[in-house]
Amino acid sequence: METSRSVQRVVVITGAAQGIGRAYAHKFGALGYKVAALDINTEGVANVAAEVQANGGQCIAVAVDIGNESSVQNAHQKILEAYGQADILINNAAIFSTLKMRPFEEIPMDEWTKVMHVNVTGTLLMVKAFLPTMRKNNWGRIINISSAAVTMGRPHYLHYTTSKAAVIGMTRSMAKELGRDGITVNAILPGATDTEISRETVTAAQKEAQIAMRSIPREENPEDLTGVAVFLASEDSRFITGQSLIVDGGLTFL
Ligand SMILES: NC(=O)c1ccc[n+]([C@@H]2O[C@H](COP(=O)([O-])OP(=O)(O)OC[C@H]3O[C@@H](n4cnc5c(N)ncnc54)[C@H](O)[C@@H]3O)[C@@H](O)[C@H]2O)c1
Repeated sequence: METSRSVQRVVVITGAAQGIGRAYAHKFGALGYKVAALDINTEGVANVAAEVQANGGQCIAVAVDIGNESSVQNAHQKILEAYGQADILINNAAIFSTLKMRPFEEIPMDEWTKVMHVNVTGTLLMVKAFLPTMRKNNWGRIINISSAAVTMGRPHYLHYTTSKAAVIGMTRSMAKELGRDGITVNAILPGATDTEISRETVTAAQKEAQIAMRSIPREENPEDLTGVAVFLASEDSRFITGQSLIVDGGLTFL
């Protein structure tokens, strides 16, 4: 699938300190990409960069708060200083595993605002910062991480589901605006995925119910999501843009 050119590319992954973002960092590192692992959790992302390096990959850790424009611009600058370019952006960071599931009328408004700001505005700020570099090269891949919570209409996560639906709309409109610049913009919609991070309000019964609804009835792991990210980052996906790829074991369909 990979061309010799694409293995030289720089991939920027937000939310790489843990969970699925960490799996993307490992996968791209193992494939020979130059990885920039970004997170607000500086200690966690430094550990992930060390893990990727220990496996023979190239990876730098960069601190970022995606909801803060100057922090995002600093991160962009640090990546350019280290690698001289930035080709692929995986907008994976989000407020997610720390959220409590609850009826929407019980979600505090400050939590609603924060989730919308980080998950939606944060994604926009990252794209805005990296766009000039991609435009200059007339090549870019933007991969926005949405969620199959949107296609499920998953209850008790209204701020989160709404933010991830916005990411799909943003992906489609950005694709239209950036296609002429050689930049594709696509979304991945993961199903409920088990990571090393425990989630206090997700019960074993909920998990079993989701598994039972899948066409492929088993747990979803971070490694189930890395292949589609590699494909969307590659030259081979060049005529695919604005799309939403659901990776949930066939639970939901577009
Ligand atoms: N795990 C799942 O079941 C699942 C399902 C569908 C979609 N997703 C999406 O996949 C992505 C990764 O999921 P995960 O399970 O690994 O999530 P997670 O909550 O374990 O990790 C999110 C990461 O983002 C970082 N982050 C949060 N706010 C940030 C900010 N302002 N700036 C920079 N970094 C910030 C956190 O520090 C953390 O390392 C998220 O976008 C999530 O919404 C996850």
